[in-house]
Amino acid sequence: MKGSTVNRAQVGVDKLVATAKEYLWPAFGRDSTFFDLPMSLISAGEGNYVIDSYGNRLLETNSCGAAASLGFNPPALMAAMKQQMEKIAITTPNLFAPTEPVVWLSEKLAQISPGSLKYTIYSSNGSDANETALKIARHYWKIKGQGTKYKVIHRYPGDYHGMGMSTSSASGHIFRRVPFEPLMAGFVAIHAPNCYRCPYNLTYPECDLLCADELRKVIEFEDPSTIACFITESTNTGLGIIPPPPGYMKRVREICDRYEILLICDEVITGFARSGFWFECEKHGIVPDMLALGKNLSWGCGALAGTHVKKEIAETFTGKDTLQHGYTFGGTGYLAAAGLAGIEYVEEHNLLARAKEIGDIMGRELSAIKDKSAVVGDVRANAGLIAVELVKDKATKGQFPDRAAVAGVVNKVGRENGVLFACSTWYGDILWMMVSLTMTNDELGMVVNAVDKAAAAVEEQFT
Ligand SMILES: Cc1ncc(COP(=O)(O)O)c(C=O)c1O
Repeated sequence: MKGSTVNRAQVGVDKLVATAKEYLWPAFGRDSTFFDLPMSLISAGEGNYVIDSYGNRLLETNSCGAAASLGFNPPALMAAMKQQMEKIAITTPNLFAPTEPVVWLSEKLAQISPGSLKYTIYSSNGSDANETALKIARHYWKIKGQGTKYKVIHRYPGDYHGMGMSTSSASGHIFRRVPFEPLMAGFVAIHAPNCYRCPYNLTYPECDLLCADELRKVIEFEDPSTIACFITESTNTGLGIIPPPPGYMKRVREICDRYEILLICDEVITGFARSGFWFECEKHGIVPDMLALGKNLSWGCGALAGTHVKKEIAETFTGKDTLQHGYTFGGTGYLAAAGLAGIEYVEEHNLLARAKEIGDIMGRELSAIKDKSAVVGDVRANAGLIAVELVKDKATKGQFPDRAAVAGVVNKVGRENGVLFACSTWYGDILWMMVSLTMTNDELGMVVNAVDKAAAAVEEQFT
C-alpha cells in the first residue's frame, strides 16, 4: 500500500487540506492551490447555508450550480430517498430495470411539461442528457429515411451543454474547446443573442431579431437536408445569464419547423421552476422536440438526468429501430424519489410564483445598486436566474483587464459579509446567482447587501 494511514476521525483541518492537495484533482480548471481557499472543502449544508471544513458558514447564492434549488438536505426529499434506499439502493446494473419511483417521476414529468413532450430516458449528468438528445436526433432522421440529416447547429459564446466530446463540440466556452481539439465534425456554431453586448452592435427591437435570422441563414448555407437539430439554452446561462430577446425562441421554433430541424432545449439549469415556470420554454411560448434535464431533476441530491422527448418522436423508436443507448446509472431509484418529492414540494409551496417574486425583488434591489455604482454595467434578473455584470467603464462597457482579480475581490467581500458568491474566473467579472427558491426575503437582503459591498470594493480597487 502506498502512503500512510491516519485516524480520519481525529485529523485536523490542516491535515485534511494537505491530503486533498496531495491526492485530489479538483475539477473545472483548478489546480491544488484551490484548496488554499475557504469553502474548497465542504463539511455540511444547512438550509440555504453551507459549512466548510474550517467551520465557516455562508449563505450559498448559486444553489451548487443551480442543482440544489430547494437548499441543502430538504427533509421531505431526505425522507423520500431514505425510504427508497432501504428498499433497494443500487440500480441493479446487470438488469437495467427501472425501480418504481422512476415510473412515477416519468409520469409527473409528462404532466408538468408542455405540449406532446411525454417520454423520458434517464442518464446521470446533464452532459449525458444532451448527448442522448443529439443521438436521438441523428437516429430519428435515419428512421424517417432522411439519414443525411446529421449536423448539429449550436450557439457561441457561452451556451454550455456538457463535457463529453459531442457536448463539448456543441458548446460555446472557447477555453473548454481548444485543449481538446479536434472536436467532432458536423457541429456548426451561430452567435448567441446578447442584448447588452449585441454581436451585431444593434438594439432591440430595431434589430428585428437578426440573431434568430442567423439560424435561418446558416441552415440555408449548410443545406437543411444535412441538419439534424439545433441545440440551445433559452437563457444563455453559460455566458452569465443572458435571456433571449422577446420573440427570439418563437422565431427559432418557426425556423426549425420550416426546415424540419429538431429543436433541443437544454434546460439543465433553467428547468424546474428556476425561470418561474416548470420549464423556461413555456415562458417563451414554445414546445421543443426534446428537453435536456439534469441538476434539479433530483434537486441536487445526486446524479440524475434525463432527456424528455415528444411522443411523436419517441414512438418511432420501435421494432428494429429501438434506441441502442443507456447508462449503468441512468435512473437511480432513490434520486427519482427525491425528484418527485421535490416537484411536489414546489407545488405545495407555490415556488413557481416565488421564483418570479425573487426575480422581481432582486431585479429592483440590484438595479438600485446599478444606478449609484460606477462599475455595475448590467443587471439581469429572470426569476431565479440573476446576474450582475461589472464593467470598468459603464459608457463603453469596457471590461476589466484582469477579470479574474475582480472575481477574487467579489468572492472575498461576499465571504466577509456572510455570503458565498460564485463569481468564477471563467465568468470573471460577471456575478451570476441562482439562489435557492426557498430563500427568505431576509436572506435575499443579505445577498443584496453583499453585492453592494462587493461592487463598492471593485470600484475602489480597480477604477
Ligand atoms: C446548461 C447546462 N447544460 C449541461 C450541463 C452539464 O451538466 P453536468 O455537469 O451534469 O454534466 C450544465 C452544467 O453546468 C449546464 O449548465
